[in-house]
Parts: sequence; C-alpha cells; structure tokens
Amino acid sequence: MKKVLVFLLSVILAAGMLAGCGTKKDADNGGSEDTKGGIDYMVLVNKLNKLPDDWEDKVETTTFTNTVGDEVEVEKKAYDAYLKLKADLEKEDIHVDLDSARRSVDAQQEIWDNFTEQYGAAYTAKTVAKPGYSEHHTGLALDLYLIIDGKDIVENEDMIKYTDIWAKIHEKLPEYGFILRYLEGKEHITGYGYEPWHIRYIDDPEKAKEIMDKSQTLEGYLGAVNETDVSLDYGKSEVYSKEELDEIFVQVKCDFAAWEGCELHALRYGGDENTGKDKLDWINSLEDGGKYVKVVEIVGDFHSPKDNKGTAWEADEEYKDYQWWLGCDDEGSWSIVSTGY
Ligand code: DAL
Ligand code: ZN
Repeated sequence: MKKVLVFLLSVILAAGMLAGCGTKKDADNGGSEDTKGGIDYMVLVNKLNKLPDDWEDKVETTTFTNTVGDEVEVEKKAYDAYLKLKADLEKEDIHVDLDSARRSVDAQQEIWDNFTEQYGAAYTAKTVAKPGYSEHHTGLALDLYLIIDGKDIVENEDMIKYTDIWAKIHEKLPEYGFILRYLEGKEHITGYGYEPWHIRYIDDPEKAKEIMDKSQTLEGYLGAVNETDVSLDYGKSEVYSKEELDEIFVQVKCDFAAWEGCELHALRYGGDENTGKDKLDWINSLEDGGKYVKVVEIVGDFHSPKDNKGTAWEADEEYKDYQWWLGCDDEGSWSIVSTGY
C-alpha cells in the first residue's frame, strides 16, 4: 500500500514540478537592472532561468587559442579581467588557462549528449546544464584549467585534487570582478556539484568581494532564493561510507535546486534496514528494465513555496520526513527513482 502511494505521489509531484519548472519569464530572471555595455553582468542563468532571448544580439566577445589548441570565446570585459587575474596568479607561480567559456546552445547540447552517453543521466544532471540554461551561454562563465610543471591538467577528476592551488585562485577572484559559482555545500541552491574551476564575471569587485566573503551563491545574493544551510545526518551505517552518502546527498540536493520556491532544511540517511533486497526489487519494479544493484532511502525536511503556483505542494508548508529513494547502477551512479510519502 505504502509503495503504491509513494509511487503515485511521485508521479503527481513530478508532474507538478514540471508544471512549475522553467516558467519564469526572461525578464524575471533575478538579474539586476545594473547593465553596462549593453548586457546585465549580474544576469542569473541557472536550472530555472534560461539565457535571456536578446543576449546574443547584445554580447560582445573575443576569441583566442588556449595552450591545448582549442579556440575559446569569452565576453570582452570578462576576458580583459581574466588576463589581469592570470597575470597576478603568475606572480605566485600559479598558471591557468581557459578550457571553455562562451558556449552556443548547440555546443552545450553536444556536451550534454556526450555526458549522458558516457556517464548516464543522473551524473549529467548534476554536472552539465541543459542547453539554453547554461551560464556558459553568457560568455561570463569561465572554466579554468591548471598548468603544473608545464603540464596541462584539464580533467575534472585531476583538477579537483589541487585544493591549495584553488584556494589561492579563489582568494584573488573578487579583485578582478569574479566569483566562484558552484560552491561546496550549496548544491541545493545552484543545482550543480562543486566546481572549483567555474568562475563567473560580474564586473563589480565590491559586489564580488561581498559575495565571496559570505560564501554566497549568486542566487542568494540576488534574492532569487532564500539561501538556507542543509543539515546532513549520516546516521550509523555498515552499508554505506560517509563518502558514498555525501555523493547521494549531493545528488538529492542538485535535483532539489529545480523545485522552484522550495527551501531545503535537512537530509538524513534512512537506515541500513532500507537497503535490503525487498527495497531493491521494489525500486527496480518502478522503472522499465530497472537495473539498480544498490538502494538507499534519504529522508528530509523542506518548506514549500508561499504561493504554490499550481504545483502539487500545499502552499507555505513544512514537509517533514519526506522520502527520496535512490538506486545505484552497476557503474556506481546514483539516481533518484521515487520521491514522496
Ligand atoms: N557545468 C556547468 C553547470 C554548465 O554546464 O553550464
Ligand atoms: Zn563551467
């Protein structure tokens, strides 16, 4: 009975969320009116806010070739600021280049398709923006890579290990009008996993310093969301390590960022008793050809929007002990299979 109810609620809520998703108008995308040089350097592009329609007509870009021979297109002022940041970093023997900056919707589609094929839908959703909804379309988002002892370090899994170097880079960002966009722990706001390499030009060192000093997201700074912290309870597990649960929590948080107007407060591990064969068989039965080899239940508390805008949520309600059921495939990738009570 409970399983059927959970499944039905999942379907209803998913439909409700789809109805509520991406419905904001371009002009209502949280960006400020602070436009310089024709574009709004504070523009907000994320899972709920697509690139403004007139952006392509207004943005001025420049193109250069990076050390690995790729052509990179960047918004003009962002490129000038980046060159100054790069020169400053070189004084400290830190060497960077740009892997990717402005991307067309077609280029983003190609990345999305490649990632989906290589890593699956769940990993793609927390790593790559949907075409039309990537900050890279603006030309203001820059992906750095590191050059260490003359060697280009371009793969994400290699770059992420250089925590000390990233800390030094991040310290210098505000002075040149940049912020770090995808912060660790703020995945429920940004919708993406931690990306130390993805920096965003906002053309205002003072605002950038304010944002970076508070470890704030752009969403939070612009008031597009109420930036809550999420308490995480790992419980006691003999089945899953803390690292594995961290990955699972991030998956839930990245998905939650698209629940428009909802505020996440807490996530808890649902216990080893919910990792058995009965639960595994159940989640596999919910999807055609479900091939999950592990199952986990995450329980959490969140607040629904004050105005529920026709979604399935009760307006302005604290939802307690809400359930997320996730499955892990044989390649180690966790996906949300069912949500509800
Ligand atoms: N990696 C970021 C989220 C993008 O694809 O825009
Ligand atoms: Zn990026």
